[in-house]
Amino acid sequence: MPDRPALENDSFGPLESAVIRATPLGGENEDVRMASLQSDILRSSGGTSSPIGPGRTLVDVARSLNPSRGEFSKPYDFYDFYEPYFSPLRERDIRFLEVGVYEGESTKVFSRYFERGSIVGIDLQIRDIDFRGFKNVTYLKANQTDGDALSKIAVDYAPDGFDIILDDASHVGYFSLLTFLHVFPRLKPGGIYIVEDWGTGYWNTWPDGGSFQRFPVESYQGEIPKRLISHDHGMVGFVKLLVDIAAGGDIKGEGPFPNLGPHPFQSMNVYPGTVVIRKSER
Ligand SMILES: C[S@@+](CC[C@H](N)C(=O)[O-])C[C@H]1O[C@@H](n2cnc3c(N)ncnc32)[C@H](O)[C@@H]1O
Repeated sequence: MPDRPALENDSFGPLESAVIRATPLGGENEDVRMASLQSDILRSSGGTSSPIGPGRTLVDVARSLNPSRGEFSKPYDFYDFYEPYFSPLRERDIRFLEVGVYEGESTKVFSRYFERGSIVGIDLQIRDIDFRGFKNVTYLKANQTDGDALSKIAVDYAPDGFDIILDDASHVGYFSLLTFLHVFPRLKPGGIYIVEDWGTGYWNTWPDGGSFQRFPVESYQGEIPKRLISHDHGMVGFVKLLVDIAAGGDIKGEGPFPNLGPHPFQSMNVYPGTVVIRKSER
């Protein structure tokens, strides 16, 4: 368990984030098993005719970049899991925004995997990362809560919108919400938005997390309880807010963020530790 990161009072300024990982993907989850299975099929079928080699999956790329060290800061399960989402885009000139670079390991994997695409990696702290040999990477200092900075990055590096946005930065709910509100409108129709490590909301060691709270069902007399109150700390509250956005037309009148339009999400898949949203084509 990492030390609790320092959170500056009353500002959305620097949050020194340790590398954290919530529940690793894999194990019993059916969808994750499906994703792994699809990636196995890809591998055994020779995969695509990519210039980086047939059948080279994200995990293959991760292994080849660092053969001696074993797993990267992002466990291989994550790459296996992303394979079916990413492989249809692999040959395209995509725009990928990675929020939270740390030592650049995942950024390098995405760079090699999407050789025809461009990766913009942002972080609050710029580290001495050797990105020579990764010419399609742009590494920038930016706070994930800074709307002006995020807008400028989008205009400069993805004027037609991002194809993939991955938030693996502070894992603080309000910060991730701000990032989402700033950059989701910059995602192309049909694009993919990923939130990693939302389980920090269940950690009482995390700045905005808290031990799981079981709320009693509101008492009722002959009536169905209307409210089933649930744990909503930090990233967990953020993910549950995303569910309100996924509700689309079932919310009569204004939804939580009317500027996102009436049907922002085509789908929202919630997995242990990770959420994958597909933006509506409309
Ligand atoms: C979990 S690490 C990223 C790991 C990387 N994506 C990987 O898989 O190798 C989180 C990173 O987010 C950065 N970070 C924390 N708070 C941030 C913020 N408010 N804005 C931007 N980056 C932030 C930290 O400096 C850290 O490098």
